[in-house]
Amino acid sequence: MGKIIAIANQKGGVGKTTTTINLGAALAKEKKKTLIIDLDEQANATIGLGIGREFVKNSSFDVLTDKVDIVDSIYSTTNEYLNIIPSSNLLANVEEKIRDKSDKEQILLKKGLKLKESYDYILLDCPPSLGLIIDNALFLSDSVIIPVECDYFAYDALTQMVQKINQIQKEKKEFGLSLTIEGVLLTKLDNRNLFGYRISEKVKELLPSKTYNTIISRSSHLQEAPMHGKSVLEFAYNSRGSKEYIKLAKEIIENNKE
Ligand SMILES: Nc1ncnc2c1ncn2[C@@H]1O[C@H](COP(=O)(O)OP(=O)(O)OP(=O)(O)O)[C@@H](O)[C@H]1O
Ligand SMILES: [Mg+2]
Repeated sequence: MGKIIAIANQKGGVGKTTTTINLGAALAKEKKKTLIIDLDEQANATIGLGIGREFVKNSSFDVLTDKVDIVDSIYSTTNEYLNIIPSSNLLANVEEKIRDKSDKEQILLKKGLKLKESYDYILLDCPPSLGLIIDNALFLSDSVIIPVECDYFAYDALTQMVQKINQIQKEKKEFGLSLTIEGVLLTKLDNRNLFGYRISEKVKELLPSKTYNTIISRSSHLQEAPMHGKSVLEFAYNSRGSKEYIKLAKEIIENNKE
């Protein structure tokens, strides 16, 4: 049975999508069958993996609004071990569409749980907000990776995110389901700047057992790869960013060994 992991932080621009794409590619490199679900209307993960909006017929929006079976929204990528459910800009209006449903927080859970049989890892790229989409993502997920940018304001967002996880965790208990913190991932570390290291130490103090040993440095390869519709592993295999995401994938696989 696979593991479903939400990549979430309500703060924008912290590296959620960069982590989803490149961790997905790195897990696929380790021959782990991986599915990315793009839940952000910006569709950055979709486009970053080389799938143009014009090619997308069925998206995560259609799944959430009950227009298609989730299996029919899965697309293949250039890597045989990596699939994606793309996003659509229609997601911007999804809350309005599902708000009145009695199971509005559990739609994705009801549709997505069966995919666990077909994948080793399912990664959910979440939008930078704390609305109904994130509730749906956290109800489906077993755990959460919280990417935290090594800057001053990161700290506040992290504590808010942990509170959100605790809240959903309580609600899930009633359904006999659990939600844990998979790990906190420090991102965009500027190796020339001592300040970033100080923030990383503060984060480690807050969640010592949950902070990954792997830290993602600031790297131009990570910024550039999505413009070519590629993961950093495909775009610049020997770059620092590529090596760091491969190291992260190995750390996650190791943590999940029985
Ligand atoms: N390690 C890194 N080094 C350099 N640039 C990075 C790194 N990680 C992410 N970026 C860049 O920072 C910007 C934001 O990253 P990304 O889109 O992954 O964040 P996000 O949390 O998904 O943002 P949003 O909240 O808007 O969805 C992008 O331009 C991306 O290329
Ligand atoms: Mg994003």
